[in-house]
Amino acid sequence: MKGLILAGGSGTRLRPITHTGAKQLVPVANTPILFYGLQHMADAGITEVGMIVGDTAEEIRQAVGDGSRWGLEVTYLPQDAPLGLAHAVLIAREFLGEDDFVMYLGDNLLRDGITRFVEQFSEHRRATGTESCSAQILLAPVPDPQRFGVAEIGADGEVVALVEKPEVPPSDLALVGVYLFDPSIHQAVREIQPSERGELEITDAIQWLIDNGHRVRHEVLNGWWLDTGKLTPLLEANRLILEVLEPSNQGKVDEHSRLDGRVSVAEGAEIIRSTIRGPVAIGANTRVVDSYIGPFSSVDADCEIVGSELEHSIVLAHSKVENVPRVIDSLIGRHAVVHRTHQRPRANRFLVGDHCQIDIDS
Ligand code: DAU
Repeated sequence: MKGLILAGGSGTRLRPITHTGAKQLVPVANTPILFYGLQHMADAGITEVGMIVGDTAEEIRQAVGDGSRWGLEVTYLPQDAPLGLAHAVLIAREFLGEDDFVMYLGDNLLRDGITRFVEQFSEHRRATGTESCSAQILLAPVPDPQRFGVAEIGADGEVVALVEKPEVPPSDLALVGVYLFDPSIHQAVREIQPSERGELEITDAIQWLIDNGHRVRHEVLNGWWLDTGKLTPLLEANRLILEVLEPSNQGKVDEHSRLDGRVSVAEGAEIIRSTIRGPVAIGANTRVVDSYIGPFSSVDADCEIVGSELEHSIVLAHSKVENVPRVIDSLIGRHAVVHRTHQRPRANRFLVGDHCQIDIDS
């Protein structure tokens, strides 16, 4: 079984937050989203992974390297333009050969990984023959199915139809971004036509399989799952990952400071005269001085939090928050400075990027 991770697409939507184009590299609990996918592949026993990359290829290559950090062998597969998830399968044809594979959307985050899902497909095909099913999809009930691919389940409990972002959804069962395929998918992606939005849709390719007599199994997800490419779930993803964080302290905590609950302090970090109430992740070489960091906060590497209070927030690497009494529900990008000054005239001064939002206390 091989792996195919889709980390192409255009990442411009998150550029103002991350200073990077790749939405798959936005850190959640101080770890890029894409790294969770790579870890899930490794946990499922997969070693050969094809990585679809687009205009952010260089950043992805720099972050992931050859994959050996996860025990993986990563082959980069450049995609000239984001022409659709089925197009990604088309261009991965040679890499995938005649192997079964698991396709994973690089902006998805699943609590329980993919091991069980991969095993179910293999077990089923072992028990009933490889002809018995050609693909397996993962579904999850969502309150807003029109933002996803949606499955319709027939009276006999089988998937009968799949539609991409339907105005009138046939059910509330969204397609989660993890799919299992045998080589029949290669004919399917060649047969379909681009959709109205000009993409070769994987939902259409799976529909082609169903219409041409292939069985498509489905599983319904138990644990949580987030499509972080949808922007707003970032703080939520951070909260969910921090809830299962392993507490650890590899930094320095002085005798006037307190760590309560699930707190991880990375190497080289310093906590001075401060209280950290978990779940909280503090990145490498970050300094927290005379401050309070409250639940569900991630402060990435090389930051300085001085004389401030932070809660339910994400601070990306190399940023500074100084003398700000209360920061909550916030997302602070890289190399950002938020500080209180005594400069005259007394005023709020901003240097704000595109698509940002600032709420000022009245
Ligand atoms: O997250 C689940 C949803 O993902 C499914 O319910 C939908 O059926 C599926 O089409 C997909 O919808 P999105 O609109 O979220 O897809 P998005 O364009 O965000 O792309 C998902 C990932 O695949 C992302 O990491 C970018 C990458 N990608 C996307 C396209 C269109 C590529 O690598 N190449 C592409 O051509």
